[in-house]
Amino acid sequence: MSLRVINTVSDLESVHGLTFVPTMGALHDGHLSLVQAGLAHGDEVIMSIFVNPKQFAPGEDFESYPRTLEQDLALAESAGTAVVFAPDVDTMYPPNDAQPGPPLPAVATEPGLEDGHRPQFFGGVCTVVARLLDLVRPRRMIMGEKDYQQLLVLQAMVDADPNRWPDLDVIGAPTIRADDGLALSSRNAYLDPDQRLRALGLSRALHEAQLESTVDAAEARMVSVLEQHDLDVDYAVVRDDRTLMPVTGACRGHRGLIAAGLDDVRLIDNMAM
Ligand code: PAF
Repeated sequence: MSLRVINTVSDLESVHGLTFVPTMGALHDGHLSLVQAGLAHGDEVIMSIFVNPKQFAPGEDFESYPRTLEQDLALAESAGTAVVFAPDVDTMYPPNDAQPGPPLPAVATEPGLEDGHRPQFFGGVCTVVARLLDLVRPRRMIMGEKDYQQLLVLQAMVDADPNRWPDLDVIGAPTIRADDGLALSSRNAYLDPDQRLRALGLSRALHEAQLESTVDAAEARMVSVLEQHDLDVDYAVVRDDRTLMPVTGACRGHRGLIAAGLDDVRLIDNMAM
């Protein structure tokens, strides 16, 4: 079956009850694994491709974010996607439309992780995903665990408003990694070969943290590995895997999370401890 590409809200009216995979395009195998996870649930998959200006702060990479629509459509189709919704900015944010975003759940404001370092990020993500969910009206949404805090934030946003999104499941799918361990990300396209080697510091730090038994030792080990790879640490922490708030004592069962700067690229990764 061939891919159907939709750009307008009125064309979406004939589509509902599918499995939804929201993306900003620049598709890689991580995104395609979300489509496959969706197909495994037995419904057709609708993917959105929209680089959301509201989740980028001034000075971040909104302008330079990779935009590869033709290639994305071919990849989406090859993975078995039934529909791609690729709106423009005025479709998602009509001029003069002042509808506020949804209230942010605690996991979007209290941990001091992405929320602390990108204060406008979750407001922008929740605003666009809430609008997309209202338009697409899916049965379930599949998100990658690579953006672990984002996954928890969107699960909490949907759970907090069952009248708006009744019976909608938000499901996390495992991070897909290159053979050398680097988590797949559209922003990896920014890395030159030397930087890509340094970027391996994130997954190495998380793997080494898994060998430690306490939170303090795991966090110290992650910082040390990141510094050995000449990375600037935003955070390298072990947190509760649902609330993302600090924990003490044994690290087993919690989540290791890292954000680090590599020259002007910012990378994130996480693993279960
Ligand atoms: O993870 C992303 O690609 C984006 O944050 C999302 C969920 C598509 C919202 O723009």
